[in-house]
Amino acid sequence: MKKKLFITRKFPAQIVEPLREYYDISQWDEEEMVIPRDKLLAAVADCEVLWVTLADQVNEELLSHAPNLKLVTNLAVGYNNIDVQALRKRGVMATNTPGVLTNTTADLVMGLLLATARRIPESERYLREGKWKSWYPMQLVGKDVSGATIGIIGMGRIGQAVARRAKGFDMKVLYNNRRRRHEAEEMYGFQYASLEELLKQSDFVVIMTPYNNDTEGLIGAEELALMKDDAVIINASRGGIIDELALYDTLKEGKLWAAGLDVFEQEPIAMDHPLLTLSNVVALPHIGSASLETRTAMLMLNVKELTAYGQGKAVTNRID
Ligand code: GLV
Repeated sequence: MKKKLFITRKFPAQIVEPLREYYDISQWDEEEMVIPRDKLLAAVADCEVLWVTLADQVNEELLSHAPNLKLVTNLAVGYNNIDVQALRKRGVMATNTPGVLTNTTADLVMGLLLATARRIPESERYLREGKWKSWYPMQLVGKDVSGATIGIIGMGRIGQAVARRAKGFDMKVLYNNRRRRHEAEEMYGFQYASLEELLKQSDFVVIMTPYNNDTEGLIGAEELALMKDDAVIINASRGGIIDELALYDTLKEGKLWAAGLDVFEQEPIAMDHPLLTLSNVVALPHIGSASLETRTAMLMLNVKELTAYGQGKAVTNRID
């Protein structure tokens, strides 16, 4: 008897097909829409393995509907959608996708730095709206990335990849992390700073920390008030780490240069969200890892875990 695998999204057929050797597969057949919760709870009733995206909450409620569940594979490196404690209690394993998306996500962070500092989306709108009548010296002037100070909150794989790129822009790199990164400090000259010092000194603050109880609301009104009036804040991690209404108020009062956001408290963001009324907010639909190569590599890493489990072997990137 093959093991029962449920996939919460329509993934490319050529990626899923080889798994049929080990699994009896059922799949939500929409590529773009999240499976409704009641359908997901019904679908997990008899499955042993569940393949989810970051939009699916794997919590106590789901587990209570999935008595046979043994493995959850998450198509993301961040796993705040998974209640790891609840999984542990039931002896359910889970895996994520570390490593394969580091460079692609760091590239996007640099894109957000340049887009916010140099007002790239705003300038493009200006041109398309027919506002470009002449060239003049102070037209759409931005601020320099080169030579500025970047403060990275969360110096894991992606944070360090951002820091290395920032060196290429001759930036001074400050970082804050639970653990000091002595090797990176010595090799690249990155400097450790307390959160307060980092916020005060940085021209660009980049949030790259995981989202958990310790980091929820980490950047609120008080922290934003510590930042320079012409600083930029970038978040490509998870939405709940910045208090979005506090960010809106701070930007509205002209107390920051701009914000570059790839992630939001609610995704998709509501179109009437106040942040979307500000021209100095660059807002993206959570595309940090969205290159063809990287999304394929993430899917293939999940496939590798599923194949190992199907063959009775150990899975590797465990988060439980
Ligand atoms: C994307 O946000 C991820 O965590 O992989």
